[in-house]
Amino acid sequence: MKTRSPRLVIVSARAPFVRTPNGIVRAPGGLISALLPLMRRSRGTWIAAGADRDACEASELPFRVRALSLPSETRAAWYAGASNGALWPLSHGFVEVCRFRAEQARAYFEVCRAAAEVAAEHAPPGAVVWIHDYQLALVPALLRARRPDLTIGFFWHIPWPVAENLRVLPWASELVEGLLGADLVGLHVPRYVRAFRDTLDELGVAHVNEEEGIVVPRGARHARIEAWPIGIDVEGWASLGRDETVAAEAAHITSELGGGRVLLSVDRMDYAKGIVERLEAFERLLEQSSEVRERVTLVQIGVPSRETVAAYRDLRQRIEATVGRIQGRFGGPRRKPVHLFARTLDAHELAAYYLAADAAIVTPKRDGMNLVAFEYIATRPRPNGRLLLSMTAGAADVLPEAHLVNPYDEEGLGSAIGHVALAPETASDSTRMAALKARVSRLSVETWASGFLARLEQVTQEHAPAQAQETRLAASVRVTRAR
Ligand code: G6P
Repeated sequence: MKTRSPRLVIVSARAPFVRTPNGIVRAPGGLISALLPLMRRSRGTWIAAGADRDACEASELPFRVRALSLPSETRAAWYAGASNGALWPLSHGFVEVCRFRAEQARAYFEVCRAAAEVAAEHAPPGAVVWIHDYQLALVPALLRARRPDLTIGFFWHIPWPVAENLRVLPWASELVEGLLGADLVGLHVPRYVRAFRDTLDELGVAHVNEEEGIVVPRGARHARIEAWPIGIDVEGWASLGRDETVAAEAAHITSELGGGRVLLSVDRMDYAKGIVERLEAFERLLEQSSEVRERVTLVQIGVPSRETVAAYRDLRQRIEATVGRIQGRFGGPRRKPVHLFARTLDAHELAAYYLAADAAIVTPKRDGMNLVAFEYIATRPRPNGRLLLSMTAGAADVLPEAHLVNPYDEEGLGSAIGHVALAPETASDSTRMAALKARVSRLSVETWASGFLARLEQVTQEHAPAQAQETRLAASVRVTRAR
């Protein structure tokens, strides 16, 4: 019997499975949970550029997972160097943290080339290839050059850098040209699409503005850039919020913390998340208010991250030192104003904290979207609690009813934290929360993934005649070269 032909190829830095002390398990995160059912249905291939080969090979799945064979120095220079030492800080506006090193850029190009080669090898004719994030930005054009028959989508999951910042990247043109190999490039919010347009202006790349995005002619083909805000597994978090064991754990947490008001922050330990600034704002509140000293606890869940990069190691030390200082100044035998958990929590544990928290404090200095804000809202069964959210996070563009704050404004940040910590909840808070719940429900990650893929097919078909011609041209060029 003929099997259905595999059509979807995903290319990402991370694999859908990870090795843990308990064996190989599904990687955390909404993106993986949204893509797995699609991959199961299409019986496609998942190419994980930075993955552990064993985790890929051992998974028993109806689709293939492929890791790249890369020397460890190349992998390190691509991941810790070009991706997280250059593109990440640049995109988040931390230009002074950036290190641009030629050998790291070479490694980045090499990894993108290797990913494009593996994708070209595994994609069946006419397949859809969906590439993810800043670690693999050159793959679309490299893959297009090898396989003009493919439909190529790309999603950039972090903020798009402002043009002034991007121009200092020595390979900015290559980065943008790499992305323009895709038929559809997704960014989270219209603000980032506007920043992308500024980049095209800065680089002198011709484009057409459309109501929904930008169209860039690329020979007979077009590349489109559009906003596609991601969401979360809304029903998954809501059902955890209704789970009795989670509710019991939440009650336990509240009583262990002394029964006062609980503020919660959950972040990877990343300088873009503004963790130290938030802790310092809370420290000032402790200095100023006896009520905060007596009644308010900040729980900071800090997931260790990218510790092969010096800036991340330094940050972890600063976070731990700040928490230690606050503890020394304001803690006592029965009272701990800040609790830091420097580890990954599973979804059950996190949900219990979401239920226990009177407010979620989501104050990154810059963030592509921030799904913790969404998870807090979705998990709570009733429209109560408060969300304090940075206006500089992509989430602020889609959750306007949150309490918005400028994370760079020290006084403003302190007073906003003080307000959500102490002011009694009013009817207006519950109206806000109900509106936020409705917004989060509309932004599910499943809808995002299937909507993006449907749009990708649609935009490709709109240009099908032109692309068919381009494919024929490319084929004839290959024939001519072969002669
Ligand atoms: C962000 C990025 C992802 C990345 C994740 C974790 O969400 O957009 O691409 O995978 O952080 O970072 P890590 O370096 O551990 O993969």
